[in-house]
Amino acid sequence: MTRPASRQTLLSVTGLNAWYGAAHILFDVSLEVGRGEVVALMGRNGAGKSTTFKSIMGLMDRSKGVQSFMGHDTSGLQPYEIARLGLGYVPEDRRIFSDLTVAENLEVGRQPARRWPDGTAALAWTPEALYTLFPHLGAMQGRRAGQMSGGEQQMITVARTLMGNPYLVLLDEPSEGVAPIVVEQMADMILGLKKQGVSILLSEQNVPFAELVSDRVYVLEKGQIRYSGSMAELMADDSVRREYLTV
Ligand SMILES: Nc1ncnc2c1ncn2[C@@H]1O[C@H](COP(=O)(O)OP(=O)(O)O)[C@@H](O)[C@H]1O
Ligand SMILES: [Mg+2]
Repeated sequence: MTRPASRQTLLSVTGLNAWYGAAHILFDVSLEVGRGEVVALMGRNGAGKSTTFKSIMGLMDRSKGVQSFMGHDTSGLQPYEIARLGLGYVPEDRRIFSDLTVAENLEVGRQPARRWPDGTAALAWTPEALYTLFPHLGAMQGRRAGQMSGGEQQMITVARTLMGNPYLVLLDEPSEGVAPIVVEQMADMILGLKKQGVSILLSEQNVPFAELVSDRVYVLEKGQIRYSGSMAELMADDSVRREYLTV
């Protein structure tokens, strides 16, 4: 694996299996995300990306495997307990509070500032800092979220998650179903977060988007990890991309 061994591991998943009812969906999925990394979990529709994220967040009724986050064993914890440890999650369906204003939506996500285990302060977000990252939202702080475009609502869910000062953010398909201009804004936003040291695990099927923002990649097919490596290695490997990623 290409990740520097000196890097602190934030999230580690080993031998994850998950089921919807009797349907076995994930088969021995293992992955890691280190501090400061942007890692892409890639795969076509139905590969198991969202199921992996739900399992990591404790949202699957039935799953097994060993999961740890920030040194805590999170296997079997409740979703709110996992979130409280500082794992942020932006689900696929991007729920906003449509009757609340943009500013109020951000307040809903507010959690106390955090420290890293070595005692140094973790990045602590304020609405002002988030409006710098998302200038669009800053200009519309007083607007009801329900009146905003799909892309803007997507930005609100990311900003609200950051208000929880997460050590790591799971972003489920940030580029899906939004206009090309918003995809560009999303890429800029992720690169901006990366520059500030935010760690991100994102799921994607959009190869150019993932290439732009990610350091490393895992490729899922039919609930199994088929490939892992640096983004540059994946881009140099036409056969893997053809087999598991292009439509
Ligand atoms: N709520 C559900 N109930 C039953 N099967 C589901 C449910 N959600 C997803 N699946 C199935 O699980 C598999 C993986 O889905 P998913 O994790 O959503 O894939 P991806 O996010 O990569 O598109 C697919 O075969 C999908 O049909
Ligand atoms: Mg999905």
